[in-house]
Amino acid sequence: MPYKLLFVCLGNICRSPAAENIMNHLIAEADLSEQIICESAGTASYHVGNPPDRRMVAAASQRGMKFLGEARQFQKIDFEQFDLILAMDGENYRDIISLDPAGKYRDKVRMMCDFCTQHKDKEVPDPYYGGSDGFNYVIDLLSDACQGLLQYIINNQASNSRAKG
Ligand code: 4NP
Repeated sequence: MPYKLLFVCLGNICRSPAAENIMNHLIAEADLSEQIICESAGTASYHVGNPPDRRMVAAASQRGMKFLGEARQFQKIDFEQFDLILAMDGENYRDIISLDPAGKYRDKVRMMCDFCTQHKDKEVPDPYYGGSDGFNYVIDLLSDACQGLLQYIINNQASNSRAKG
């Protein structure tokens, strides 16, 4: 069974599709595309069906990456279908866990910046109302977090499969 990651922000057109696409690049480089699957979603529905924001796509293409995707809204069923749900900021985190009042899936929901090793940020800042610097910064921050996340999954999945024998 592949390990399934869901990246979540507000609109699912800037930060979470960037995280999904950056992570997919790292996963492909590590030859783990069969083992780890990524999706993304937004807590809000404003941009459902839209591709990633053109400013984010432009920032990515300057680094030789192509960002693909179509926005969708986070739903309760995602708690069951994903192994790890990564919130970009504190508001996203609270909106996600508000859909799980009993706390059944609380351990699956984590802050994306918890996986950074080079940055001290606690949240991935929302670049939507700012300029191109914000989009470039989001890519830098997410590249750091995605590398840490991939290492975390490799370490944890290895110890899980050892535990299962
Ligand atoms: P995202 O950015 O949550 O990173 O996709 C935003 C996208 C749209 C809006 C806000 C943030 N908006 O207000 O429409």
